[in-house]
Amino acid sequence: MDEMKTLQEDLLKQVGQASSLADLDALRVSVLGKKGLITEKMKTLGQMAPEERKAAGQAFNTLKDAVADAIAAKKEALEDAEINARLAAEAVDVTLPVRPETQGRIHPLYQTYDEVVAVFGQMGFAVAEGPDIEDDFHNFSALNMPKNHPARQMQDTFYLQKGEENGEKYVLRTQTSAVQIRFMENNRPPVRIIVPGRTYRCDYDATHAPMFHQIEGLIVDTETNMAHLKGCLAEFVRTFFELDDVPVRFRPSFFPFTEPSAEMDIGCSRANGELKIGNGGDWLEILGCGMVHPNVLRACGIDPDVYQGFAFGIGLDRLAMLKYAIPDLRTFFESDLRWMKHYGFVPLDVPSTGSGLSMTGGNKR
Ligand code: DAH
Repeated sequence: MDEMKTLQEDLLKQVGQASSLADLDALRVSVLGKKGLITEKMKTLGQMAPEERKAAGQAFNTLKDAVADAIAAKKEALEDAEINARLAAEAVDVTLPVRPETQGRIHPLYQTYDEVVAVFGQMGFAVAEGPDIEDDFHNFSALNMPKNHPARQMQDTFYLQKGEENGEKYVLRTQTSAVQIRFMENNRPPVRIIVPGRTYRCDYDATHAPMFHQIEGLIVDTETNMAHLKGCLAEFVRTFFELDDVPVRFRPSFFPFTEPSAEMDIGCSRANGELKIGNGGDWLEILGCGMVHPNVLRACGIDPDVYQGFAFGIGLDRLAMLKYAIPDLRTFFESDLRWMKHYGFVPLDVPSTGSGLSMTGGNKR
């Protein structure tokens, strides 16, 4: 029986020393497995005399239970240790400093672009686009500006040296109005689009750059009239400038592709040399608009006796300058990081008419 005691102590010691689950399992197999130490000992019971067998059987069982219990307890302890080690290794140190503030900024022009698209988008306008390099037909002729039309001279056009279409040089488009034609050539009314994009004219001072941006608007349907035009644009400026009261007025004007044509002014004040949009007794021109000229519809194969439409063109850069009080247009394109930090917007604060255009809670800048 001493022998059994020593064996048990030895086996329990081995169990206690097992340092991994794999070691412990190997030990279990070598002791309790089919050919294990204790299993082999049990097999010898058959050859024993009956009294001896009873005592030995009991002793073997006690040994077996003790070792099995010890292995089970050790297994649990090793598993716990393993989980704890994993938890410790995967722990996140919440005391680490937060990531540094996002460095990049959204350019105020593209902030404005997104805002305008959000406002018109909510009114049901889709966004259309066209090429920056245009042919004479789309940029001029189809917009009721035939060759030698004096209005062509108003737009200091960049002509491309290479390539021609129908004997006319290609141009850098002078107006997003060209996309009116491109869209109506490929889509039948009802049409309801805005066209944000780059435009080019040979001009350079504090309010003009050779590359600038416009947003064109076009609606064509069977019952579109001047009242729709007025309502739509009045609603736009109020939502865009985030003001309840922005008076608007329409002055007669001339554009070859609209008849009648108008320019829209918005209310402002210029008290103490500071320009403020809103009801201030003064006026500021903001966009050109009008009812689509029948010749434009005809150029796109649309019957002007059935369809009418209105169109408008807004200088996007000018909108950005007005809304965000940026005095010089040229600074938009100078890539000065200090300027971007000052006038830029935090990325991912995407403007929407629901969550706010330029504001979400606080100022996004
Ligand atoms: N294309 C004009 C320009 O660049 C702006 C404009 C005026 C567009 C009236 C329009 C419009 O669609 O109806 O000066």
